[in-house]
Amino acid sequence: MTMTLAAVILAAGQGTRLKSALPKVLHLLAGRPLVAYALAAAEAVTGQPPVLVVGHGADAVRAALGDRAVYVTQEEQLGTGHAVQQAEAALRGRSEAVLVTYGDMPLLSEETLRALAEAQAGNTGPLTMLSVVSPRLRDFGRVVRGPDGNVRAVVEEAQATLDERRITELNVGAYCFRSDWLWEALPRLPLSPKGEYYLTDIVGLAVAEGGHVAAVALEDEAEVIGVNTRVQLAEAEAALRWRLNEKWMLAGVTLVDPATTYIDPQAQLGRDTRVLPNTHIQGRSVVGQDCVIGPNTILRQTAIGDRCRVECSVLEGALLADEVEVGPFAHLRKGARLERGVHMGNFGEVKNSTLGPGAKMGHFSYVGDATIGAEVNIGAGTVTCNFDGVRKNRTVIEDGAFIGSDTMLVAPVRIGQNARTGAGAVVTKEVPPDSLAVGMPARVIKKAASSK
Ligand code: UD1
Ligand code: CA
Repeated sequence: MTMTLAAVILAAGQGTRLKSALPKVLHLLAGRPLVAYALAAAEAVTGQPPVLVVGHGADAVRAALGDRAVYVTQEEQLGTGHAVQQAEAALRGRSEAVLVTYGDMPLLSEETLRALAEAQAGNTGPLTMLSVVSPRLRDFGRVVRGPDGNVRAVVEEAQATLDERRITELNVGAYCFRSDWLWEALPRLPLSPKGEYYLTDIVGLAVAEGGHVAAVALEDEAEVIGVNTRVQLAEAEAALRWRLNEKWMLAGVTLVDPATTYIDPQAQLGRDTRVLPNTHIQGRSVVGQDCVIGPNTILRQTAIGDRCRVECSVLEGALLADEVEVGPFAHLRKGARLERGVHMGNFGEVKNSTLGPGAKMGHFSYVGDATIGAEVNIGAGTVTCNFDGVRKNRTVIEDGAFIGSDTMLVAPVRIGQNARTGAGAVVTKEVPPDSLAVGMPARVIKKAASSK
């Protein structure tokens, strides 16, 4: 495609039917604001930040999206035609063609927008519109064609005659225009019976001038789900989820129950990984190959290596090397780093800490702000007492140490290589390598720790 292209996304409407204090386009879909989808698709096709027409909740929308869009404000919502007109100052003379889409139609794909722009590049007339044939969908303008099969007009449902209502070819609401013609035609739109300037009336204007209006018919009905109510929001969520889940299954990931598998758009999964029911893989999480994740697991901004097993656990901002086993019932928080072969689970929590290769932490322990060496065994109920009321202090446990059940490690503190602590020890001072510390507060008994 050689023509230069800019995009306008309409997002000034209030979204009254969502019954919300939050502007419609900021409602979350798979964890991202609704409008982010339209922005991403338009930007992918035009190669530049789209012009977003904002009105209701404009400040909140700007704050949420920052420089991903160029903003123009439509002070009063006088219709879709009037909304597009607001972009004229930002775009006139900047591109040969202008793509128009909505901020509340999140599943309209990049491929569809590209097909629309390509059709217009080959059209002698001033515009190409997107249509969908569906006997099921409601609330769409009807595409009226003449006896020669050419598009003549778009009629809104409210104004349609009974015959026109039976038309099953619907106006999606996405268009590609020749720019100079668009800016010249918009001021000529008539006022509708509802007192608005309808962008759809531009089709009739083009035809009256003898211009050819092309229509590209969409294949996948799910792409045109418009979000006006929370019911439709859930419908869009399900359709988007299905689209992503299908992509991962075709890429070699087993989803035992796609209906309860929630994979965010930016997450990545490796081949032959199995995801068990009720699992959420959120944000930019990455899971390697041959893993088993779930059931009942949340991964949030977490990176996992190959051949790992995570069961019934919540992992946030964590990093797992290969062959790590987590859960059931573990909570890994920001900065948790589990090296190869670590096993941790059963009501354990790890924050801002590294567990060295092969370390074991099997039963209800808390490890925070700690560096734990290779092959360390953390006994049941061990706690790093990292907070003294003022600051967070570090615990260091060197390779091969054995921490007895219910040990309190009062940080800052260091346990030497191959040292041991007795059950119930309250460790307030350094324990040298190869020694044993017992009691409250723990005393070091000068003898070799173990025969290990
Ligand atoms: C519009 C089309 C209809 C099409 C349908 C598809 C018109 C007149 N009708 O109807 O043919 O089938 O979309 O969904 O265009 N908006 C503004 N400013 C305004 C009015 C609307 O920014 O003054 C935005 C809304 O926020 C929304 C989009 O434009 O994102 C569509 O507006 P909406 O009122 O929902 O149009 P429909 O009545 O659905
Ligand atoms: Ca709508």
